[in-house]
Amino acid sequence: MKIVQRPRRLRRTHSIREAVAETQCSVSQLVYPLFVQELGQDDAIGSMPGVTRWSEKSLPKVLENCLELGVRSVIFFPKIPDSQKDSLAQEALNPNGFVPRLIRESKKRFPELTLFSDIALDPFSSDGHDGIVREGKIWNDETVEILAKMAVLHAEAGVDFVAPSDMMDGRVGAIRSALDAKGFTDTGILSYAAKYASCFYGPFRDALDSAPRAGDKKTYQMDPRNVEEALREVRLDLEEGADFVMVKPAGAYLDVIRRVKEISSVPVAAYQVSGEYSMIQLGAKNGLFALEKAMEESVHAIRRAGADLIFTYFALDLARKWK
Ligand code: PBG
Repeated sequence: MKIVQRPRRLRRTHSIREAVAETQCSVSQLVYPLFVQELGQDDAIGSMPGVTRWSEKSLPKVLENCLELGVRSVIFFPKIPDSQKDSLAQEALNPNGFVPRLIRESKKRFPELTLFSDIALDPFSSDGHDGIVREGKIWNDETVEILAKMAVLHAEAGVDFVAPSDMMDGRVGAIRSALDAKGFTDTGILSYAAKYASCFYGPFRDALDSAPRAGDKKTYQMDPRNVEEALREVRLDLEEGADFVMVKPAGAYLDVIRRVKEISSVPVAAYQVSGEYSMIQLGAKNGLFALEKAMEESVHAIRRAGADLIFTYFALDLARKWK
């Protein structure tokens, strides 16, 4: 054939492919989500093969392992016993509660860790919703007041970034002013800015027993059909003082990540959620593809789309692979 352009020349050897790879992803860009429980032992999570709900006493060993592998950023998700849940999610504001203690002790022992903490009421709410429920409605302003106090509590405990995942209106601004009023001007906010009402959170809710007892989360989380609305949410959160904006889930929302990246003046995070993780695990278990390849391809795609920071349950596996 008489063709001058032969793109395959740049794919001929491994070394050439490495030289021209457009997307780089390193361990320092990964955040590892950790499930932790106050009561009981380490439990395997049935819906998430390879993921454990750690007991408090195992946590230091797990964090040590993360640091050894170069994973320096983690986020905690607490499993709260039903006996501590109520309709006002009061346990979320207990200064001697499980989460503030986890933050305090982890920071004391491993000061080099970057800690994120999820800000939402669902683990503590007997209704399983991210906000206060009354008369079948989720009350925005009342919820934001609690979230701002919760953020201050986590800041007092020493968290680096609070991460509101509740999708109430105005919460980033309210959290920023509450933190500043108490002198926590260095505590940052990673906003789950564009969080969709997604079925892919299923395994997570199973892991924490935090599924809504009634209804769904569609009056606060976003409609999967929308992207302009995601940009509006991002613009608002930037105006309100977010230090990171997040898109969640990631794999089915790569276009949203790209659009957000194009307008964001702060780094963009993306969350490869529990359902994405478990689909890959179960697909590999069923012999459909190789686990290592699928996890790497999925994370590279999220990075290529524009994510600067990636929350993924594969963080440790990837760290081992990339070492
Ligand atoms: C709670 C929260 C959820 C996730 C992170 N924070 C679940 C939800 O909104 O129902 C999902 C994470 C995952 O699926 O891995 N607000």
